[in-house]
Amino acid sequence: MRAVDLIRKKRDGAELTPEEVAWIVARYTAAEVGDDQMAAFAMAVFFRGMGGPELAALTGAMMASGDVIDLSSVRGVKVDKHSTGGVGDKISICLAPLVAACGVPVPMISGRGLGHTGGTLDKLSAIPGFSVDLDAARFIAQVREHGIALIGQTERLVPADRKLYALRDVTATIESIPMISASIMSKKLAEGIDALVLDVKVGSGAFMKTLEDARALAKTMISIGERMGKRVRALLTDMDRVLGRAVGNANETWEAIEVLRGGGPSDVVELTVELGAEMLILGRVAESLEDGKTRIRRAIADGRGLERLARCVEAQGGDPRALEARDRLPTARRSKEVALGVGGTIERFDTEAVGRAGMLLGAGRERSSDRINLSVGIEMMVAPGDRIGPDQPIARLDYDDDDRFDRAAAALRSALVIGEGPAPARPLIFARLGGEA
Ligand code: URA
Repeated sequence: MRAVDLIRKKRDGAELTPEEVAWIVARYTAAEVGDDQMAAFAMAVFFRGMGGPELAALTGAMMASGDVIDLSSVRGVKVDKHSTGGVGDKISICLAPLVAACGVPVPMISGRGLGHTGGTLDKLSAIPGFSVDLDAARFIAQVREHGIALIGQTERLVPADRKLYALRDVTATIESIPMISASIMSKKLAEGIDALVLDVKVGSGAFMKTLEDARALAKTMISIGERMGKRVRALLTDMDRVLGRAVGNANETWEAIEVLRGGGPSDVVELTVELGAEMLILGRVAESLEDGKTRIRRAIADGRGLERLARCVEAQGGDPRALEARDRLPTARRSKEVALGVGGTIERFDTEAVGRAGMLLGAGRERSSDRINLSVGIEMMVAPGDRIGPDQPIARLDYDDDDRFDRAAAALRSALVIGEGPAPARPLIFARLGGEA
């Protein structure tokens, strides 16, 4: 085979065979096909798309480019959740221990934040001593013993994605539903899971701005999963809002802990319960959505979720006393409220701008090499639909650096759209997709 022939075939709209797809991915990973040819291939896929068998072959080849974790020694149906990313999305931190406490093992490998979106791994790193760098053997042993492990991507998992994603980033080929789907699903399937719940975000703070695109992405990922023998369900959920009130790292971790302690903002609780119920159905522990929701709510009420997170924190070298009080997590040196300067009714948030404000404060990364400050963050004090006066605080900023405070405050002010009245209310969950559980 020659790369140039496969590029031409794809460019002209023909479907590649699974062998051809596997060949180009393997050769690219081994550096026998260069960035120049792979960039051309990515652009051909960008314009021509991929059929079902091609896409399953792409995902399988990417997954097989590195280690695939073998969780066969763990009893039960292993289920994970993946979110396509948003602002204030701390759900994994409360969701995973609740699902594990209900009897479904959760092997979760998360990523770091980039741009306006946060990452679960950064939020978890706010827990003193907590290590997200377990090797595969420890990861497996911990899921077997505690039903939960929360770690980061290792160098050995899906190297093809790391290489290809970096190439797509500089060749304007990120925004391709087939390649996004293969990238996400290859990483999830390398975890050794049996089933997956996808939280596909829609709105101004999400990767997918329209319901139509979010639905297409969800359907593509579900079909890849099914072709690879995994059960996958997806929720399309709102990201035209900040999820909860906290945007940052330590403050988001604490908000998730509050959910496990029986409190927390209602939307964070609701999404945790809904996603948890889906995971329990896939894990064959709940018989229906209602049954699943009841089980998750019970694990919050009787403290089993909190206790499971404490076990996980301890097993990964962290201090479980961090789950007892906010001041045991990193705290910023200063705190100040921000007002808008004009009054009116908040029509909606530009959620991406709120995420950018968090990044400017130091809570997020502009580039993947940037260092972040786990203690700084935003606490939103208003919501769309609220009538506010010019001097009324819209948010509290916890910060360490005055210059960063000024830039973040300006970005936050520009994120609020003031109008005559609220935009029509949007539901938290737009749709559920996926076949038989
Ligand atoms: N997230 C991923 O993991 N991969 C993509 O291609 C896009 C978003």
